[in-house]
Amino acid sequence: MSFDVEAIRKQFPILTREIHGKPLAYLDNAASAQKPLAVIESMRNSFEHSYANVHRGLHTMANETTEAFENARVRVAKFLGAAENNEIIFTKGATEALNLVAYGLMDEIKAGDEIIISKMEHHSNIVPWHFLRERLGAVIKWIPVLEDGTLDLDAYKALFTKRTKLVSVVHMSNVTGTINPVKDIGRIAHEHDCIFVVDGTQAAVHIPVDMMDIDADFYAMTGHKLYGPTGIGALYGKREWLERLRPFQGGGEMIEDVFEDRVTYQDIPHKFEAGTPPIMEAIGFGAAIDWLSNFDRQAIIDHEMALYDHALQGLQEINSFRLIGNAPNKGAVLSFALEGAHAHDVAQILDRYGVAVRAGQHCAQPLMEVFGVHSTARASFGIYNTIEEVDRLIAGVKKARLFLS
Ligand SMILES: Cc1ncc(COP(=O)(O)O)c(C=O)c1O
Repeated sequence: MSFDVEAIRKQFPILTREIHGKPLAYLDNAASAQKPLAVIESMRNSFEHSYANVHRGLHTMANETTEAFENARVRVAKFLGAAENNEIIFTKGATEALNLVAYGLMDEIKAGDEIIISKMEHHSNIVPWHFLRERLGAVIKWIPVLEDGTLDLDAYKALFTKRTKLVSVVHMSNVTGTINPVKDIGRIAHEHDCIFVVDGTQAAVHIPVDMMDIDADFYAMTGHKLYGPTGIGALYGKREWLERLRPFQGGGEMIEDVFEDRVTYQDIPHKFEAGTPPIMEAIGFGAAIDWLSNFDRQAIIDHEMALYDHALQGLQEINSFRLIGNAPNKGAVLSFALEGAHAHDVAQILDRYGVAVRAGQHCAQPLMEVFGVHSTARASFGIYNTIEEVDRLIAGVKKARLFLS
């Protein structure tokens, strides 16, 4: 399929909406993306024609639903380049995927063991490690972030000691769009016999990712930012690690046998999928992956980066505009501050013009401290955004600058 933004927009019914009498310009894709008809219809179709619980029944619809659910797993595995389908665990999102890893490693981490994360992390790749600090006495060490929004890799190398057990970093920042060299970071982690975890929530949407190439032990992603439904995400884990991890939640479907005095578990992936999984959401997730995979991924990157460049050029002309993060390798996420203006006020003014952006700390408080800001406004671009929408962003920020001076 060739890249035609107007044709793509027609597949997103919500984009015809008006906000305060103005056409919607949805530039909050890093928070969550809108859904194409392919996703909406795949879920509606399943609800209307073949719905039952999975892995339980012997009846036709249970079998059909199980097949559709497992097919979604195959799609995720292929999308991530996993060695086998069973290395994909369905979770309710990236947050749950990262919590699953941290909880599962409770038996591996001892008091005084060190965990390296970066100052660029989303809270979902910080707080689970704090749990291990609080409960087990693990020590968290931080990779600093340089002025341009890249990781200080020399400082990273110097953080390792004999007690370092794990490194967990974000692949693409949700605040600055910085794309981290995760392959190199992982190689260094493995040279020190450390477990390597990657938060791929944003990266998986915007750049092709390949587990064989990155060689992460765990990679977390989510459906709702990838044009799929909420309530579904995935954790990739190497088989040997998933087998070693303790199960995250207990209940039906994850067990093999339950006795009064003991319990045995299913093989992966089911060992980590207790209870009724988000069946329809997984089917919608699979449809989103199919839909996205129809496009030339490089054409999407080029399109999104053209929007980013255009936005930056226009915004830079505005008095006291400050770009947050200008890494040489980044995705189409543009965070900024306007001196003397609160980011929330900027976002509210933009909303009056139909332009949806995010404002706040973006669940990345340590990174806000690095840049010495309390919050930022963030425009994040997706496959369906247009230059005209970017022009409306620029015009809106100019108005905000006038009102808030
Ligand atoms: C970098 C990053 N990691 C993790 C998350 C959490 O993802 P989820 O909403 O799927 O739990 C987000 C969501 O904003 C994110 O941007």
